Amino acid sequence: MERIPTGITGLDTILAGGFLKPSTVLVVGLAGSGKTTFTIQSLFTSAAKGEKSLYVTASSETIAMINHYMSAYSFFDPTFYEKELIIFADISSLVEENYLRIVPYIQTLIEKHDPSRIVLDPLTGMTYDLDEKEKRKFLRTLFTNIKGWNTFTIITEEMTHDQVKSSLVGYMADGIIELGIMETEEEVLRYLQIPKMRGTHHTMIKQHMEMGPDGLTVTGQLFGGRY
Ligand SMILES: Nc1ncnc2c1ncn2[C@@H]1O[C@H](COP(=O)(O)OP(=O)(O)OP(=O)(O)O)[C@@H](O)[C@H]1O
Ligand SMILES: [Mg+2]
Repeated sequence: MERIPTGITGLDTILAGGFLKPSTVLVVGLAGSGKTTFTIQSLFTSAAKGEKSLYVTASSETIAMINHYMSAYSFFDPTFYEKELIIFADISSLVEENYLRIVPYIQTLIEKHDPSRIVLDPLTGMTYDLDEKEKRKFLRTLFTNIKGWNTFTIITEEMTHDQVKSSLVGYMADGIIELGIMETEEEVLRYLQIPKMRGTHHTMIKQHMEMGPDGLTVTGQLFGGRY
């Protein structure tokens, strides 16, 4: 297994050098916590080093909207599309038609493009219409297929800290990264926390995370590690 850079400034050092490849990491957080920024930054930063990625979405944001928002960041480079270093796929219509076709469709995209990193953002957008039994079936099929992909995969999901601890997707993923927002009397701060990362010695202390012109930056323990 190799370690690959996360693409998030300051995160590699607290993850023993980066993410393991192959592996699957779940990035969770509530709306606006930075999940899409995290994944797009990871893909663009690795594309700058020549790595190929596939970004699959079924979100309420269109690909054009995501591109528009992300173009504000320094890591954004539209030439990565022309060079086919980043492939975007919107599967919203497939989700409406038949959820059983989602994984086989992603499989065909992987066979065609041979990406090194894959993002599914957000899982909620692919499973919102399913009952609990169908969701479990979808997740089992997805994770069985992921094992054959030999890629680094990020799945995002809108979940609270307590939901993720007892979730099937959190159990199946090799790692979990939680993004959050904390309010004190004086300020509102973003943080990142790593509750799980198989095969990696890591801190579980909340890390302060800034969102600026260069995207997300992990700057050190939140409040000196007191929370
Ligand atoms: N250029 C920017 N610089 C700093 N912060 C920004 C910038 N653009 C957006 N933001 C912040 O990032 C938030 C959106 O982040 P992002 O889309 O990554 O979150 P998300 O977790 O994917 O949300 P959702 O659940 O809605 O998909 C905005 O609500 C805003 O607070
Ligand atoms: Mg998002």
